[in-house]
Amino acid sequence: MNTPRTLGTPLSPTATKVMLLGSGELGKEVIIALQRLGVEVIAVDRYPNAPGHQVAHRAHVINMTDGDALAALIAQEKPDLVVPEIEAIATDKLAELEAAGKITCIPTARAAQLTMNREGIRRLAAETLGLATSPYHFASSLEELEAGAAAVGFPCVVKPVMSSSGKGQSKVDSAADVKAAWDYAAAGSRVDSGRVIVEGFIDFDYEITLLTVRSLGEDGKVITQFCDPIGHVQVQGDYVESWQPCRMDPVALERARDIAGKVTGDLGGLGLFGVELFVKDDMVWFSEVSPRPHDTGMVTMATQAQSEFELHAKAILGLPVNVALKAPGASAVIYGQHEAAGIAFEGVADALRVPNTDIRLFGKPESFARRRMGVALTTADDVDTARVNAKLAASKVKPVIVK
Ligand SMILES: Nc1ncnc2c1ncn2[C@@H]1O[C@H](COP(=O)(O)OP(=O)(O)OP(=O)(O)O)[C@@H](O)[C@H]1O
Ligand SMILES: [Mg+2]
Repeated sequence: MNTPRTLGTPLSPTATKVMLLGSGELGKEVIIALQRLGVEVIAVDRYPNAPGHQVAHRAHVINMTDGDALAALIAQEKPDLVVPEIEAIATDKLAELEAAGKITCIPTARAAQLTMNREGIRRLAAETLGLATSPYHFASSLEELEAGAAAVGFPCVVKPVMSSSGKGQSKVDSAADVKAAWDYAAAGSRVDSGRVIVEGFIDFDYEITLLTVRSLGEDGKVITQFCDPIGHVQVQGDYVESWQPCRMDPVALERARDIAGKVTGDLGGLGLFGVELFVKDDMVWFSEVSPRPHDTGMVTMATQAQSEFELHAKAILGLPVNVALKAPGASAVIYGQHEAAGIAFEGVADALRVPNTDIRLFGKPESFARRRMGVALTTADDVDTARVNAKLAASKVKPVIVK
């Protein structure tokens, strides 16, 4: 592990340089946190003027699934750290460069490889680490899917092995619906690998993200810390609201931490992870993990002493972190609602008049109906009030097309 720890001056020969692969709203906040520490930041994305591009020292547009293009840019910029912010990256190339000692990848290239494909992380969690998960099968044809669905039982959930934000994912209630799920998965896959996972449906009471941070202790050894659990609501596999802390049965919380500790311990490296878990009574199932800040964790910009982005920035630089909760709070997503470039937002002032509210607008150049364009953040004496206020504030922000 080649951890900077001593920080230089940006745009000088002593600069500590960090390259973000993916520069969406989560990357943008990581970049701002790095900027505050005087780190020189290079933001990379597949389209120009991505949110993170707008706050970095330099911005590049490349196809990050093209290993040669990625290697060429890394050779040109020579970052101290390479920080994947999205899943769709040529992770095999990152692994090759890491093995050759040419890069330090956050948290590790192997973690990026395993989590970009549901098969990698699921087999690790369930088969190697023995963690509780939904029952599952993988399938590369409709026939295999039919057999897999029958084996896990109905209802079940079908997902492309390479997809995120619920793309290509559907719930299947009976054998008659399996073909539609297969076709839908093929259309929603990031890479049409033609491979899907079918998972038994877990009838959970609620689901959480357990933000888990691996940072260096004073003795140079890695320590693992857990933020307060974040509750969230997903619609069609995409998060619409989150809150922290999420009240939990103490046994379930202990199990959640045990699972998160095991999976992040295996993935290794330094940084923050978002461990997604399903909870029913005191039972906990591992769902998946992001080896990076998590969208549901945007709430921590309001609720924690250090947001998940500051925690990630500090941890990857080898610095100590503080995971303390500051106040209960909530986040609610602001969607684009329109298909247009250069939209405007009315009602921001009204949103900010809601008590203890803040707003983030991501600055995405183009809006889609279901594209996340911003988020409302609130704190309150209790989570229930914070949730009501976050949704109220988000509803006051009105995306409009400017003629
Ligand atoms: N086996 C399951 N049983 C019950 N609900 C499920 C199951 N799998 C997924 N879900 C629901 O769908 C949501 C999205 O699933 P998952 O996290 O696997 O997809 P994703 O595309 O990776 O989403 P994201 O990228 O937003 O995390 C979950 O948060 C959960 O609400
Ligand atoms: Mg998920």
